[in-house]
Order: sequence, then structure tokens, then C-alpha cells
Amino acid sequence: MKNKTIYLKDYKVSSYFVESIDLTYELKKDYTLVTNESKFYKNINSKEDNILKLNWNNLDIIGIFLDWKKISIEIDSNIELIEDNTILFLNDLPDTFELKIVTKIYPHKNTSLEWLYVSNWIYCTQCEPEGFRNMTYYLDRPDVLSVYSTKIIADKQDNPVLLSNWNLIESWDLEDGKHYALWKDPFKKPSYLFALVAWKLDYIESSFTTFRWKEVTLRIFTEPHNINRCDFAMASLKRAMKWDEDRFWLEYDLDLFMIVAIDDFNSGAMENKWLNIFNSAVVFATPETATDKDYIYIERVIWHEYFHNWTWDRVTCRDWFQLSLKEWLTVFRDSEFSADMHSKSTKRIEDVRYLCNYQFREDASPMSHPIRPSFFEEISNFYTLTVYEKWAEVVRMYQTILWKSWFRKWMDLYFERHDWQAVTTEDFLNAMQDANNMNLSQFQTWYDQAWTPIVDVSSNFSAEKKIYTLTFKQSCPVRQWEKRKNPFIIPIKFWLIDSSGDEIKLENDIIILTKEEEKFEFNNIENEPVPSLLRDFSAPIILNYNYSFEKYSFLIENDSNEFNRFNAMQNFSTELLVNIVNSWVYELNDLFKNSFKSILIDDTIWNSFKAECITLPSETLIADKIWKNINPQKIFEARKYLITSLIEEFEVEFLKIYDNLKKKIDYKIDSEDIWNRKLKNVCLEYISFKNWPSNVYKAYLDSNNMTDSFSALSILSKIECKERDEVLDDFYNKWNFDPITIDKWFSVQATSPLENTLDNIKKLSKHKLFDITNPNKVRALFNSFSMLNPVIFNKPESYEFIADKVLELDKINPAIASRLVKNMINWKKLESNLWEKLRLQLLRISNEPWLSWIVLEVVKKSL
Ligand code: PHE
Ligand code: ZN
Repeated sequence: MKNKTIYLKDYKVSSYFVESIDLTYELKKDYTLVTNESKFYKNINSKEDNILKLNWNNLDIIGIFLDWKKISIEIDSNIELIEDNTILFLNDLPDTFELKIVTKIYPHKNTSLEWLYVSNWIYCTQCEPEGFRNMTYYLDRPDVLSVYSTKIIADKQDNPVLLSNWNLIESWDLEDGKHYALWKDPFKKPSYLFALVAWKLDYIESSFTTFRWKEVTLRIFTEPHNINRCDFAMASLKRAMKWDEDRFWLEYDLDLFMIVAIDDFNSGAMENKWLNIFNSAVVFATPETATDKDYIYIERVIWHEYFHNWTWDRVTCRDWFQLSLKEWLTVFRDSEFSADMHSKSTKRIEDVRYLCNYQFREDASPMSHPIRPSFFEEISNFYTLTVYEKWAEVVRMYQTILWKSWFRKWMDLYFERHDWQAVTTEDFLNAMQDANNMNLSQFQTWYDQAWTPIVDVSSNFSAEKKIYTLTFKQSCPVRQWEKRKNPFIIPIKFWLIDSSGDEIKLENDIIILTKEEEKFEFNNIENEPVPSLLRDFSAPIILNYNYSFEKYSFLIENDSNEFNRFNAMQNFSTELLVNIVNSWVYELNDLFKNSFKSILIDDTIWNSFKAECITLPSETLIADKIWKNINPQKIFEARKYLITSLIEEFEVEFLKIYDNLKKKIDYKIDSEDIWNRKLKNVCLEYISFKNWPSNVYKAYLDSNNMTDSFSALSILSKIECKERDEVLDDFYNKWNFDPITIDKWFSVQATSPLENTLDNIKKLSKHKLFDITNPNKVRALFNSFSMLNPVIFNKPESYEFIADKVLELDKINPAIASRLVKNMINWKKLESNLWEKLRLQLLRISNEPWLSWIVLEVVKKSL
């Protein structure tokens, strides 16, 4: 099979740097002409000869001029094209020179949604990670920073708004109804942050005064008919600016900040310096169209992209192996902010749920990779949960060990040293060590070693000596490319609770593991305590301690750490479900019943926390615990059984909470109301198992906001009944004009466990509102199905269908095809007959000779 692996160890500095790059984009009807005039100078640190290696991909070349003299690939001996047509070599160059390159590109035909493309008539770019090379020949690598100027020339009537990065220098009308705008950077940036947007756009405007009294103008651009949906995004942006000042003393460094909302976008958003481009699904928010979850997600992405301005638009990464470096701190920062704004423990529970459901899965899959991989084929495959979420957890561990103020010290030193530089993980670690005067080198293990570490804990109590001992053994499976694994540094937050439920006095609430096996002794302990381990999920690990069901109950009642109370409940229900699946004995354990009830009826527990505690673990989480010979149907049945038993048992209690919360109030997007709605809708789902579908139908009719309607819609979509069709039709009739809201209609049908779901998805994929070139639609229908509907997805016909879609998508948008195929490769531990069927489909995909690199890399790993 083909292979084009790139290794971190092969990194070399560029032989040349770019002092400035002047770009001209002439947007024409059928094509765009790109003129790139760059001034190069020799990098004195490079040991190479005077050879320039420019990246390029699929370019239609009009001309190359070296110091104003035309040169050509056919006749000049100092130009060479090698390596799969991806690098242009220029030999024997002077130490400084200018290169002018003219290329012709075809944005209207570009369905990859990378480099320059057209979404709903809007011209826009996506250059991270390696899109720039599809527009012009360039040193398209993050460690080459340069000052850009961008002149955009276009028809004024079609494209009245012309945007690019940084300062607008001038704009002027030209002949033939054309006009131009010239934008220029005051400082250097890498090519992946280049951005350009053009079309008839409207904007809303606001402003923010920084703590140094600088006025910053804020604008959000969109098509005119969506302009009323951007106010929440604007308010979120201002909150982010304020928090970054309060918490990190980071002031916005420019006087304008712009966001553009685009319908066709491969991911959530992109942090291009001062011109962020967003998926419109992550901008538009009104109570009628967005759920509470959408609001929180929108807010978080806005913050994330804004925080990128410092981390890492100003300090960027040296090469793409350091990608996590650019994302982790930003994820960590947006998650901390979210916790500050809403609730620390709920935020922690949500983050951990996400981590355990998805990142742990990835870490155990064939795509598992270290936070900083040492090799890859396609960097686009590495925008993963490991890079984003696991890294953020690593930063959290630094903070746990060092405390917040030390963390700040590091941030300050880090920016002092590396502002406007392209850096590596080692630079980060060095700053952390130097700022805190500590040896933290063992953290390196987290960057270089894949897979989730496992920590087995055992305890021993000597009543005679009054000594309680905890023994920790860490392990981590070794992957093919690793020789061995070194022990990780792992902070375990913990406490000991005595039999009456009181906390025992201890000197320290944190144990820091650094070796494979370690023992910790506690003296003067009167009775055997119950340990509350890994409080707040202080490390991204799998911790095993042999808790009995009695101990789980005890912790649920007595643990003062909210997260661990939740976790005891989660682990208890997971174990119970695993037992049901493995033994086929359906019975509701009494201890579990009592614990569940104690949470359910406790009025002192706040609602969001209660909702989290009574939500059972997902089917995939249970599957991951079962680990081998997985039968998704059995898991589905077991879960259904448990929910049904609980509602049988506690109908009165559920109804009481539900009735209390369902009173109609005006929709407000504040934490208290969000939590109430969350609990109300979790209860409604339980109730639907007993008293369906009338209550749910009524909830749908009564709702005055999308959170409640969507919740009722998704519950009903799982039940075979006439109300289901009515509600689906009603939703469709209400929202068919709005591409973003109608995605909800696609996704609830894709995640339904009803028998006819696959047929329905096939039908929906031909629906007039479905469009396979739009990633949001693909995510709503195919990704939700393959990720969130394990029981229907794990059938031979479904594998075949999704494989077909992967192949179809690969010709349109390989990055999106690759994300879809990743949902197929996580399931290796299925019962053998299922895995065999799945494997055949993966083989079928891999055998296509025209398959893109990006999909091939994923599929190859899985076989
Ligand atoms: N850099 C973007 C972000 O997190 C994500 C992204 C990557 C978007 C690659 C597009 C392409 O914040
Ligand atoms: Zn990011």
C-alpha cells in the first residue's frame, strides 16, 4: 500500500525565510488569478545550500519570475519538480531575491472546503493546516512567518464586501464595475492564518474597551437574512475578552476583530488573525432555533477562537507535530472560562463524560496516537480528541500540581520568551520548569506515549497498627512503534472517609505518582476508611479500585467531592449494566435502587448535578467497559431494561420533579434555567418509557423554546407511534427554510433505534434538503448515525451503507470522508461475526485505487 510518512526527527529549518509577501487575488467568474510577490532571504541557521523548496499542490501555473526575469519549469535547469509533484525546488539562488508567481485557481469547482472555495456564493478560505499551497507556491509551514499584504479585486456588485487579515489600507473603485481592497499585516504571521472573504455581507457591530482603555471594534458578518441571529455570539465574544484580561492579563492586541459566518465549513471555526471564520451553526443563536446545549457550545467556540489570538496566533507552533501545543492551552482556557461562568462541577462532569466517551475510545482505537505524534501521513487526520481534549487534561494536571498562581507565572514567562515565535513542546515545558523552578521533565511521557494509562489501586488496613495503605500500580499497553513505556507522572486527588461518613484529617489531598508501583501509608487510622480516589478526575486515566456495591452506595451518600459522588453513581450503574449484559440476569439491585432514590428525592441537590447523576452511561461507554465480544444489541436491551425498571419503581418521584419544573416560564439563557430544563428533560425521557407518548407529545406542543421542543422531538423519534410522525412533520414544516435548524430533524431520525432507521436514513440521504457537499448535513445524518446509534449502526447493511458514503464523500471532501470512516474503526472489539463484516467494508474502501491519502491512512491503520 502507498505510504508517505513524515517524521518529526526529520525536521529541518527552512533554508530561506520570507520578509514579505504581497498577494493579489483577482476574483473572476470562472477562476481566480493569484499573484504572489515574495521577498526571500537566506536563513543563516540553515546548513543547506541555496536551495528553496516551495510547497504546492495541483496548481495551474501562469508564470514564475525570479528577480523580474521569467523562468520556466521546462527550460531552466535551476528549477526542479520532485516528490509527487508537491515540492518545487529552485537551485543556486542568491542570498536574497524576489519571486513573483502567478497561478490560476478554481474556487467554484473546489468542494474540499479548504484553501479558497465558495459557500452559498460567499468566497472564503480555510488554510490550516496546509491549504495555502493550493493557491500559490510557498513555504507553507508554520515556522515561516512573514508580513502579508492582500489586494482583492472583484466585481463590486457581486462582491461589495472584500475582507482579509489585519488593516484595511485602501479600497477603491476600478473600471468595468470592479473595485479593490488592500489589506496589510503590521506583524508577521504563518500562512495557515491567511484569510480572505468576499460577497454581499451584512454585519453587526459593537465595541469593547480594554483595560488599557483601547477601543476595539467588533463585527460579525453574515448574509443579510441571518443578521438577527448574531447578538448572542457578540455578547459571548465580549465576555471572552473581559475574562482573558481578568484572569490572564491578556489584552486584545488590535483595534478590530471580525467574525464571518459560513454555511459550508469542515469544522467549527478557524482563528485566522483578526478575521475568524465560523461555521454558521456555531454563530447563530435564538431561543427558537438553538438549544441550551447549542448556546453553550457556541459560546465555547467563540471563546476558543478568541483565545487563540494569544495562544497561538502570536506564539505559534514550529511544525505540525506540535499541533497540540496550539490547541491544548486554548481548550484548557475555554473550559476554565466555561466553568467560571456556569458551574465548576457540572462543567467538570460534562468534560469528563466527553473525554471518557470519545477520547478514551480514540486512545484505544487503531488511530490512537501520542499527544505529540512522532510521525504521520496526513496532518489533517490529527485534529483529534487526543490533541484537543487529552492535552487540555495534561495542562490541568500541571495546574493541579503547581496551583493556579504558578501557572500564571508560567504564562507570563512563556509570552515574554516566545511572543511572535514558532515553538515546540520542549519550549513550553522549559518555560513551565523555569517559571516554577521545578523539574517537570516527567511530563514528557504524556506528550510522547499514546493510550490511556491504567492505574490499579489496592488497599490494606491493619487494625492493630492503625495503618491504612494504598498501593498504586500503573501500566499502559505498548503499541507497535514503541519499545517500552516509561511511567507517567499522575496526580491523584483523594481523601479518606471514615465509616461514619466523616472525612479523616490528612496532611495532603494529593498523591503524585511517578513510578510503576508506589505505596502510601496513613497512620493513626481507627477503622478501615473508604477512599475517595481521583477526585475531580485529576488525571486522564482509567483508575481501577475494587469498590463493592456497598462502597459505591456509601460514596454516593457521603463523598463531599461532588464530582466523585457523580462518578460513584456512574461507575455503579456501569458495573450493573455490564453485569446484566454478561450474565443475562435482569434484576434491579437493591443497593442501586436506594442510591438512585436518595439522589432523586434529595431537594438539597441542585438540578444540573441531579440530572447528571441520574443519566445512565451511554451504550458506547458500556461497550468500552465490556471490552471484547461486544454485542451492541444486548447492551441496548440492558440499558432499556434498567431505565424501565427505574421508572416502574420511581414513577411518582419522577413525575413530581417533572411537574414542578414544567411550568411555563419565559425562556432565559441563564445557568439556573438551563439546569432546570436539563433535569426536566432527563425526567421526561424516563417518563416516556412508562407513559409514552402522551406526556412527550404534550411537552412538544407546550414548548416555547428549542431546548424543550428538541428534547421532546428526540424522545419521540425513538418511539414507534403516530405522535412521532406528527411531531416530525410539524418540525419539518416549521423549519424547512432554515438549513441549520433542519439539521436537527435529520439527526434525531439518524439516532433513532427503531428498526426502520437505516431505510429512513437512505431515504433522507435523497431528500431535497439533504446536500452531501455540506458537512453539517453529513454530520447530522451520517456521523450522528455511526457515532450515536450503536445498535442500528452495528449491522452489516449499515456498514455497507456508511462505506458507500465514505467513498462517495472521498471524491467530494476527503477530510469529511476521513472523519466519517473514523467512526467505523473504533469497533474492533465486536463479536467476531460483526467485526468480520465491518472489516470487509473497510477492506473494500482501502482497495479503491483512487482513495485519498487522508482516508487511506485511517483505513490502513484499522486493518
Ligand atoms: N484551528 C481550528 C480551531 O480550533 C480548527 C480547525 C483546524 C479548523 C483545521 C479548520 C481546519 O480552533
Ligand atoms: Zn483551536
